[in-house]
Amino acid sequence: MSGASEREANAGSSPTLASSQSVEPAWARRDAEMDRFLDELIAKMTLQEKVGQLTLLTSDWESTGPTMREGYKQDIAAGRVGAIFNAYTAEYTRDLQAMAVEGTRLGIPLLFGYDVIHGHRTIFPISLGEAASWDLDAIEESARISAIEASAEGIHWTFSPMVDVSRDARWGRGSEGAGEDVFLGSLIAKARVRGYQGDDLGAIDTVLATAKHFAAYGAAQAGRDYHTVDISERTLRDTYLPPFKAAVDEGVATFMTAFNEYDGVPASGSRFLLTDVLRDEWGFDGFVVTDYTSINEMVPHGYARNLAQAGEQALHAGVDMDMQGAVFMENMVNSVEQGRVSQAGIDRAVRRVLEMKYRLGLFEDPYRYADAERQQATLYKPEFLDAARDVARKSMVLLKNEGGTLPLAADANRIAVIGPLGDSKPDMIGSWAAAGDRQTRPVTVLEGLRARAGDGVRVDYAKGASYEFADEGKTDGFAEALALAEESDVIVAAMGEKWDMTGEAASRTSLDLPGNQQALLERLVATGKPVVLVMMSGRPNSITWADEHVDAILHAWYPGTQGGHAVADVLFGDYNPSGKLPVTFPRNVGQVPIHYDMKNTGRPIELGAPGAKYVSRYLNTPNDPLYRFGYGLSYTSFGYSPATLSAASMGPGGSITARATVTNTGDRAGEEVVQLYVRDLVGSVTRPVQELKGFEKVMLQPGEARTVSFTLRPEDLAFTRADMTHGWEPGEFQLWIAPSSGAAASTPVTFSITE
Ligand code: NOJ
Repeated sequence: MSGASEREANAGSSPTLASSQSVEPAWARRDAEMDRFLDELIAKMTLQEKVGQLTLLTSDWESTGPTMREGYKQDIAAGRVGAIFNAYTAEYTRDLQAMAVEGTRLGIPLLFGYDVIHGHRTIFPISLGEAASWDLDAIEESARISAIEASAEGIHWTFSPMVDVSRDARWGRGSEGAGEDVFLGSLIAKARVRGYQGDDLGAIDTVLATAKHFAAYGAAQAGRDYHTVDISERTLRDTYLPPFKAAVDEGVATFMTAFNEYDGVPASGSRFLLTDVLRDEWGFDGFVVTDYTSINEMVPHGYARNLAQAGEQALHAGVDMDMQGAVFMENMVNSVEQGRVSQAGIDRAVRRVLEMKYRLGLFEDPYRYADAERQQATLYKPEFLDAARDVARKSMVLLKNEGGTLPLAADANRIAVIGPLGDSKPDMIGSWAAAGDRQTRPVTVLEGLRARAGDGVRVDYAKGASYEFADEGKTDGFAEALALAEESDVIVAAMGEKWDMTGEAASRTSLDLPGNQQALLERLVATGKPVVLVMMSGRPNSITWADEHVDAILHAWYPGTQGGHAVADVLFGDYNPSGKLPVTFPRNVGQVPIHYDMKNTGRPIELGAPGAKYVSRYLNTPNDPLYRFGYGLSYTSFGYSPATLSAASMGPGGSITARATVTNTGDRAGEEVVQLYVRDLVGSVTRPVQELKGFEKVMLQPGEARTVSFTLRPEDLAFTRADMTHGWEPGEFQLWIAPSSGAAASTPVTFSITE
């Protein structure tokens, strides 16, 4: 390597899951004083008051579904409710708290929850976008800032992180999670829990986190939200559960059940999930809340005859708190009186909830989070906005850059921003943007480019097309957009999906650009001007045509409050893109579900001659995706040496260190996410063709080389074996250190695990 400096990257190696031991979180330590206090309190409570503590209702500010219950204020005053969500601001939560503390017999403080998903007021990129940064510190920081802002407005508890693995781009809620991968998703789950909860739940700037939706919500059949989940227990354990387990290991305080059924049982009634796995196997010590009205939904699921039975099933399964459905509130006293639910069962749930209130310090000072001055001093701090911009640019993935179209050429004096997402504030922050201001604060792409473009550079805008489904076939705005395009040096086409086309209840059966965007894009390309497509979306879209015809594609997700500035940072080259896809992008919807860690099958396509019929393939579409998991370009280029291993085999208790040298072969400084993949060649059950087992994001100056190392132990290669035990098996393995997934892309090295 001439002219290259070479040094060993971080003495350790990238985080592994097996090495992050499960330690009891500080909040779960027994506290004799707390126990005494709660014993006394619980002894004084009537059954009605106890059931109140198991009831969570929405304030009427906002809701995420049909409102089942009005008059929550009367319920608070009567001690019939112990927790409220969708209520925030110091003043408002203080008023509600006063009703509970001063107006009820025992004065038990309320717990305030809210969906703080990717920022509270300062909105960060959607969670899937953050995952594309592969930057755990940045993700933790985003959660930390969210907690600081939210807690300053009286919120104690966020319904985040959403740790559902999602492998079906039709499903709208993939935007809320960390993508398709078990390993990446687990580390991100931990980073988010750390960010929200810090190391002290009693600190006033931390909030309780919630691992949701337990479990396998992302496996909804055909990608239709709330739909049936029917997967094997092995797949459940190997693919869908690990990020939840990781959240428990990180000390997450609460869990939320899922809407779906698993193996014929609605998740909110699943004793297998909520007790056998969560409590008995994993030792979870916090409380479990249901999703919105999901106990009630056990009736239409066909699992309960009526609401009373549904409530009993939920409590028996391990639910502690009923969100919004008021099933516990209206039926549980009766269920206990009639002997179908035990007092002990109620007391156990009540104690779990009260413990969290105690740990938050609410019994000491119920108003400690509701401080108008702190609120005033905290929201939208400049450093929060800077962090949001930084995370946004880190989240962007450069998918194509033909002929160095990007960064924009210095002599691009006229830039045309075209498309429905070019100047749309509401879209910038995506779905689940909590208390984020959708109308005034977000910086649009147009605004960001204008703010950055130097004197003498004109940035004009024409909407041109629409993303509304109903506008497919229309051409109204095309002429204006094309005229602008003709006068310009470069076209920035800001296209994708409307912000609410992903998120809850936002599934699609097509992954194409909605509305008439594709038609306009084709006309823009036909002008012969360079076209840069800036995609905004919360799912992988099938942009196969764009990949073939436009010059450059930057996937910007929904980048948040500062999104337009972040897009400008990347397009002008002030920031060198470093994001990598946390999900596979299919060529078309027919390939879905598609993910990199598929099984080989008995007839893998590579085994057949080209065009062979009787192999596992489609007649009309290649098996390969459009863009692989882990893929993303930079304005510089990176070279990888072949991987080397410290040993050819390891036994129980042993380890192997894999190394590769990565060199910045271009002429700009840049960051690369170096990825480690492993394949277990033969198992007691079939194993995926690749699994991510490590990654490291390294910054390299032009010409600089760095040796990146990963240490693997047998435990890192554990899975659910044929006998349903969890562990590794001796045998042969392949290993890759590579810039993305894709077994065919580079030659593996092999090692073995001996007995
Ligand atoms: C329903 C959603 O599924 C869940 O993620 C959310 O936290 C609740 N509504 C509360 O808003």
